[in-house]
Amino acid sequence: MKKQIKQLKKEKNAVMLAHYYAPAEVQEAADFVGDSFYLAKVAKQSDADIIVFCGVRFMGESAKILNPDKKVLMPDPTADCAMAHMVREGIIAEMRAKYEDLAVVCYINSTAELKCQSDVCVTSSNAVRIVKNLPNKNIFFIPDRNLGAFVAAQVPEKNIILNDGCCPIHAHISAKQVLAEKGKHPMAKVLAHPECEAEVLALSDFIGSTADIIAFAKTDPAAEYIICTEDGVDYKLAADHPDKRFYYPEPRPCCKDMKRNTLEAVLAVLEKEDQEIIISEEIRRDALIPLERMLELSK
Ligand code: 13P
Ligand code: SF4
Repeated sequence: MKKQIKQLKKEKNAVMLAHYYAPAEVQEAADFVGDSFYLAKVAKQSDADIIVFCGVRFMGESAKILNPDKKVLMPDPTADCAMAHMVREGIIAEMRAKYEDLAVVCYINSTAELKCQSDVCVTSSNAVRIVKNLPNKNIFFIPDRNLGAFVAAQVPEKNIILNDGCCPIHAHISAKQVLAEKGKHPMAKVLAHPECEAEVLALSDFIGSTADIIAFAKTDPAAEYIICTEDGVDYKLAADHPDKRFYYPEPRPCCKDMKRNTLEAVLAVLEKEDQEIIISEEIRRDALIPLERMLELSK
């Protein structure tokens, strides 16, 4: 299947992007693998005719918003991020009416419709820096309350209003699970994604995006780690460090939507060129503004 995928990519001038949570064999077959921010940048710079996005819908949508003339294909169109929808209808307008000087900061894990109503997008790798540099004092951070709270703790000079959304996978990782791993591996450092609950972040030695966690393990001298994020990162961590040990909370955090990106699905979508991301021009134009602002502000 990998050979066929390679051949089809070449014939069709297609590029394959995969998130670190995609299945290992898909990451292995991809041209670019990374966190959400890296993949958005790669999508923007790509000169391929077709982008096969092995992630969840908001990632494919962001690639399409940034590349209206390219075909963006999803191996499984039902691969969606539950958190991307967790903003109550009408709440953004209510907040804008309440605070004159309000910036709506939208985590990239959100629908295109939510991006349209926002001032700037962020990812877990640039949220602190971007919020810090906004001129606004009042920030409505959507949809993730955990990333929002993490940013609020780093930027105390701002009034950050949290929205009640979260990632079900990261929210399920508990302090008890982390402490159980710590009990088994007392020397292990805890590396966590900021989508985790505050009780887990409080136990962590390092907090960052998937790419930040991978980069940290690369330069850090420790030999053992407890990884508090989706277990797809294990492919890269284990490949980079055959000499180090990586443990996960039990049950191992697994995003079923990310795992829908199988090699079979990639091959089928490359053959048929169906399952294309379609966004109306009106929504695309409005959603592009906060996405481009993010790319600009994180330069
Ligand atoms: P990253 O931006 O760290 O890759 O995270 C994306 C995501 O979906 C985390 O659950
Ligand atoms: Fe969304 Fe959570 Fe899956 Fe990331 S791990 S894509 S935030 S559901």
